[in-house]
Amino acid sequence: MNKNSTEKHQAFAQKMVDILNYGSLNLAMAIGYKTGLFEIMDKFTSPKSLSFIAKESGLNKRYIHEWLGIMIAGNIVEVSLSPDENNLFYLPKEHGDFLTKRSGCDNLGVYTQEIPLLTTCSMDLVIEGFKTGQGISYSSYPKFQSFMAELADAKHKEVLINKFLPQVDKGELIKHLLTGINVCDLGCGHGTAILLMAKAFKKSRFTGIDISKTVINKAIKDAKLQKTENIDFLLKDVSTLMNDNSFKNRFDYITAFDSIHDQTKPLSALKSVFYMLSDNGIFSMVDIAADSDIAKNREHPMGSFLYTVSLMHCMPVGMVDNGSGQGMMWGKQKASAMLAEAGFINIEVENIVDDTFNYHYICKKY
Ligand SMILES: C[S@@+](CC[C@H](N)C(=O)[O-])C[C@H]1O[C@@H](n2cnc3c(N)ncnc32)[C@H](O)[C@@H]1O
Repeated sequence: MNKNSTEKHQAFAQKMVDILNYGSLNLAMAIGYKTGLFEIMDKFTSPKSLSFIAKESGLNKRYIHEWLGIMIAGNIVEVSLSPDENNLFYLPKEHGDFLTKRSGCDNLGVYTQEIPLLTTCSMDLVIEGFKTGQGISYSSYPKFQSFMAELADAKHKEVLINKFLPQVDKGELIKHLLTGINVCDLGCGHGTAILLMAKAFKKSRFTGIDISKTVINKAIKDAKLQKTENIDFLLKDVSTLMNDNSFKNRFDYITAFDSIHDQTKPLSALKSVFYMLSDNGIFSMVDIAADSDIAKNREHPMGSFLYTVSLMHCMPVGMVDNGSGQGMMWGKQKASAMLAEAGFINIEVENIVDDTFNYHYICKKY
């Protein structure tokens, strides 16, 4: 091996060690997030003993001890000695800032659950898919749907009403929402976003549409519980709505939060949006910020993570019934071209305040 090759060899050996450590750390952090250990430790104002953590959390001491071993080796939790020489554990506030519910939009802890969850749902099916080319149905991901709702909560609650909507059409949209317009959210999932909008703008009328019966039933239940009356939920396949006269020009504002790229017929879905939108209406498509050329995503700060989520979920669910399977990294160029093909003339792509994961495609018919 020449000098260059030896250096590459050693660097890659180190990288492999890092990969094994960080992959393991991600899994253990997902457990810390899910069991509430990060939340509990974040409240400590000084280092605490294992017994104290076990008592506060109500969790098993032996399991916590092993988990703390991982957190210390990974430099997530700090360890020090008490005067009587017992280990004390502390989650620095700077770490808690990214690992707990108080972190709001900075809560990256919630994402540690994503790869372990997808592994449980679909690792075997994805490996099979490499051989058969078949897609994987949404029904294989029951736990992932509720995880999506948790993500939507973390994402939308802080930003949607106060930061995202005021950006649209230089503040004009908010004025219309306050006076009363018809709004639709496509692929609404459990309805987090549309429920927030319905509660904030009482004079407007809201419709959430999704293809999944489970999520629509949950959304209807939540709307009832929250006594939100200006909202309906419909169980529909978005891609078929351009064939239904009752949807023609029906909405003044349509949103799609990360719900176009994993559809089996995204072009038909976008054509339906065009059909459903009033002539002066606006379509907000929020979708993953990436380039359509995989080589350009080499510099993407979360490229490996997002491509993995796509491989394990978005791409295969979009491939069901010979669907197009765009995957979440379909990128700006493909997404813009498809919006144009669906009929949109005026397409602006903006970054979103407090959401570095996504682009905001603001689309008008004319
Ligand atoms: C990634 S989730 C996003 C959910 C939600 N918008 C959010 O921000 O959390 C995509 C959603 O699109 C829905 N979906 C997929 N294909 C659809 C279709 N053809 N018509 C309607 N909804 C669809 C799925 O059931 C799922 O709830």
